Amino acid sequence: MATPLPGEWRRTHTCGELRASHVGQTVTLNGWVQARRNHGGIYFIDLRDRYGVSQVVLDEKVAATVRLGPECVLSVRGKVNARSAANVNKERDTGEIELVAEHVEVLSPSRTPPFVVDGDEEVSTETRLKYRYIDLRRPQMQKNLIHRARLISAMRRAFENEGFLEVETPILTKATPEGARDYLVPSRVHPGEFYALPQSPQIFKQILMVGGIDKYFQVARCFRDEDLRADRQPEFTQLDMEMSFVEEDDVFAVWERVMAHTFRESMQIELTLPFPRLRWEDAMERFGVDKPDMRFGVELKDLAPWASTSTFGVFTAALSAGGRVMGIALPAVHALSRKDIQALEEVAKSLGAQGLAYWKAAREGSSGPLARFVPDAASAEHLMGLLGASAGDTCLFAAGKESQVRRVLGELRTQLGKRFGLADRAIQAFAWVTHFPLFEYDADAGRWFSAHHPFTAPEDWTLGGDGADPGKLASRSYDLVYNGWELGSGSVRIHRPDVQEKVFQILGIGPEERQRKFGFFVEALASGAPPHAGFAMGLDRIVALSLGLDNIRDVVAFPKTASATDLMCQAPSTVAPEQLAEVHVKCIPAP
Ligand code: AMO
Ligand code: AMP
Repeated sequence: MATPLPGEWRRTHTCGELRASHVGQTVTLNGWVQARRNHGGIYFIDLRDRYGVSQVVLDEKVAATVRLGPECVLSVRGKVNARSAANVNKERDTGEIELVAEHVEVLSPSRTPPFVVDGDEEVSTETRLKYRYIDLRRPQMQKNLIHRARLISAMRRAFENEGFLEVETPILTKATPEGARDYLVPSRVHPGEFYALPQSPQIFKQILMVGGIDKYFQVARCFRDEDLRADRQPEFTQLDMEMSFVEEDDVFAVWERVMAHTFRESMQIELTLPFPRLRWEDAMERFGVDKPDMRFGVELKDLAPWASTSTFGVFTAALSAGGRVMGIALPAVHALSRKDIQALEEVAKSLGAQGLAYWKAAREGSSGPLARFVPDAASAEHLMGLLGASAGDTCLFAAGKESQVRRVLGELRTQLGKRFGLADRAIQAFAWVTHFPLFEYDADAGRWFSAHHPFTAPEDWTLGGDGADPGKLASRSYDLVYNGWELGSGSVRIHRPDVQEKVFQILGIGPEERQRKFGFFVEALASGAPPHAGFAMGLDRIVALSLGLDNIRDVVAFPKTASATDLMCQAPSTVAPEQLAEVHVKCIPAP
């Protein structure tokens, strides 16, 4: 690298680049002042950029030429010096050298930062989000964003290699239902009319298939006004794809190759293919949830054979009412106190259970409230056999309606898994969950809803014939589950307009609404739609999970809070009355 001319401030190297091999060279570094230490008139500065940290040494004379504050931006020209053996910093890639400053220029001063970038103190999420530009300087955030970029880039290349075409679909569009509320944008040109931001590119990608695009993908931004959690942001990114003339197996095979490529390229991890498959019904029966963490056992067990002969009224009553009695066994090494169990019972009750019976398993001398209903060793052995329990295991029981029993034990299994670290962190547990129900009944709304979305093909194209119970219909939708998270969803689609019309009917969408909302789409389906299927993966989720993070906020550069606000730029915000008038909108003050 050429020696810079005097007065030239631009960097010759990055702050992470200098090694022993650069000793003796004159170089220029640019970066932020991370730390300053004054050793008897000599200043040591840690200068940081995205690539690393270099130690800069300023003697009194050079130091007197500048005012250095934390996080100000410097250009430092000087000579690379070898550190003495005692002063080598093995923790740092640049630890063998230091830069002895000959000329220092403050390129930009800094206000006192709200927190120390490389500090150990806990910084609140609010502060981090409000001053995201400072937060983004933290090596951890930079690592997260670099990983995100690499992973998405590897995935994009994988789809290109598979012959997929990247196509952008509109952001200002008509509602695409995915079960959340729409974000609306008023039209200036068409008074009283609104665009909706897409909840997903679903309708457009299907129309691309009708348009003969055959293999589409997109890194797509989606918008959903819904309750936010650790794994949900109001705007997020999907790797969205669709293919023509295919069925489930084809979609699974493409994604398995793409995931293997992505993990290899971005993380040097070899995935085991194919991913296991599990029917929705089996997932619910074994794990109580449709996104099971399959890195550990503690599976739900059917205890009807034992409960039906027991004298415990709660259990026998549940069975006679057509319900279930199920249980899980937590291995004895994971001790639960009475208080812990009480807390779990509260969890169970919050999910609608009447109680949570427990039993410390043993052939003889078992304990817990259930013990008095386990009269002898034979009964204990029978129960332990069904539970797969050993002596000393804590067994938890739920009795009641099937959906509730599964929900309760599924949640307890998840919580116990987290609490005792039951999952082996070295395992990548992917699985396809298939055969979801087609519809779910919402008693409050008094109508059926699509379990996935209204464009999902039924297992049976006749929808069970006239008068069939919609609740019994299976769909051709599938999820990809990874270590207990839903990573993505997809389905074989309805490509027949008559079936699509029938589904709209079951969903209670009348002819006028159908025409207004989906008329163009049904017309497209009636214009030569190939059989097609697709899938969308939540990129924020896969990036977070592959970094071992449990909140997607940490892999989004500018995320929103749980109340959907951007603390940095204070969005949403009020706008000037003139601006509202221009888009023909009047605000109703909140009550
Ligand atoms: P679905 O609604 O299941 O399917 O979304 C697919 C995946 O997107 C991710 N995701 C989210 N990530 C962050 N924040 C959110 N609010 C959020 N909502 C969803 C999840 C989810 O699995 N059009 C269909 C796909 C298809 O059928 O092809 C769809 O959007 O990881
Ligand atoms: P009881 O005889 O009502 O005191 O209940 C004995 C135990 O059964 C207590 O630990 C209750 O929490 C538990 N229990 C009550 N109802 C249920 C239920 N539906 N499912 C599981 N356990 C229950």
